[in-house]
Amino acid sequence: MSVIISFEGVSKKFTLHHERARSFQELVVGFFRRDNRSREEFWALRDVSFTVERGETVGLIGPNGAGKSTVLKLVSRIIEPTSGRIEVNGRVGALLELGAGFHPDLTGRENIYLNGSILGLSRAQIRWKLDEIIAFAELERFIDVPVKHYSSGMYVRLGFSVAVHTDPEILLVDEVLAVGDAAFQKKCLEKIAGFRRRGGTVVFVSHNLRLIQQLCERVFWLDGGEIRQIGPPDRVIRSYVADVARQRERELSVLNARYVAAPPRGKLRIREVVMRDGYGRPRGVFLSGEPVHIHISYECAERVEKPIFSVLIHRSDGEYISSTNTYDIDPLDIGPIEGTGELVVEISRLALYEGEYFLSVGAYTEPDPPFWATPAHFLDKVRRFHVHSPDGAHGILVLQARWEHHPDIGRNP
Ligand SMILES: Nc1ncnc2c1ncn2[C@@H]1O[C@H](COP(=O)(O)OP(=O)(O)OP(=O)(O)O)[C@@H](O)[C@H]1O
Ligand SMILES: [Mg+2]
Repeated sequence: MSVIISFEGVSKKFTLHHERARSFQELVVGFFRRDNRSREEFWALRDVSFTVERGETVGLIGPNGAGKSTVLKLVSRIIEPTSGRIEVNGRVGALLELGAGFHPDLTGRENIYLNGSILGLSRAQIRWKLDEIIAFAELERFIDVPVKHYSSGMYVRLGFSVAVHTDPEILLVDEVLAVGDAAFQKKCLEKIAGFRRRGGTVVFVSHNLRLIQQLCERVFWLDGGEIRQIGPPDRVIRSYVADVARQRERELSVLNARYVAAPPRGKLRIREVVMRDGYGRPRGVFLSGEPVHIHISYECAERVEKPIFSVLIHRSDGEYISSTNTYDIDPLDIGPIEGTGELVVEISRLALYEGEYFLSVGAYTEPDPPFWATPAHFLDKVRRFHVHSPDGAHGILVLQARWEHHPDIGRNP
């Protein structure tokens, strides 16, 4: 095996130019301080070392701003490292950020020539590939239109087509693939598969962990400009997902701690709402399908004869998802209450898919409808929680379905 890409202690510093102070207040403060700092240094990568073997497919994962695109730009020599050594022993075809490498005023055709020559192809070589590039990009009708009039999907199609048809040994693919429609994505993935079969090397950046898992032999996890882990997809993706969940858990606990409850309007008050997992641990991030227990503690200013409690779930975009109450949905005769106490809502399987949700809790002293119109205390969106579905399934509601197969039914005797 031979090394085709090597990074040795690579760091990249960007200088951010703050064009102007953000507010009048900052302007005034800046004036009196005589401190008009308009430049700020930012390390996008710090001491990054790795090697990629010829023929390998490597995935780069990590949160926004981790430095993934910066790595690709360094490999393709669009930018230079601030320090460290980079060696690339092969021709690079790159599909980087939208529009990178395209001149907006030139037509699609002219940009193909421009890109081809940057990649070291002669005009004759490019002419030979031209039809194939245009056909793959499905841009026949638009190829003589300046690319500034292209949609983002058209940009990506042209960019990818140029990258794969200019005979690269290394293919760099940034997240942008996701901009294209599903049919084009499929075509690109097939093209990438063919390129790999012929021994090509691929460095692939994506937030789609399933795709990374399927495509890559090794995964690099970048975080804050540094390599956190390099290894087999299973292991690295698992650590990354766990880390993201831990971080989200911390953020949610801060957000939830900041919640300011509205004062009660009646003699019954909700003191606290806690979401716990099946082991009784307070949590903000749950796995799709796991048990959730919602603990609601209350306090009455005086005896309440027939209290009712309700729980509502909304998605973070405000869409109402579902609810339960002790009155008519999941009836529970609570009877007269006094002083303090706690109710527990047991959800045996959280049937929600990936997303952010809100929990609201209401307490009512009216024993008859419409009790919901007059809550004694209503905590609107009191808990924000995250549901993670590891298999990348999408939608809102998990159908708790089971399939059966009866092969003999319908066959003629
Ligand atoms: N030309 C630039 N000038 C200044 N800062 C930059 C420049 N390019 C990137 N950065 C900064 O460097 C950091 C890393 O950026 P990069 O684009 O590599 O992240 P990324 O991992 O690709 O993130 P994403 O998942 O959002 O695409 C970011 O904080 C970004 O703001
Ligand atoms: Mg990026």
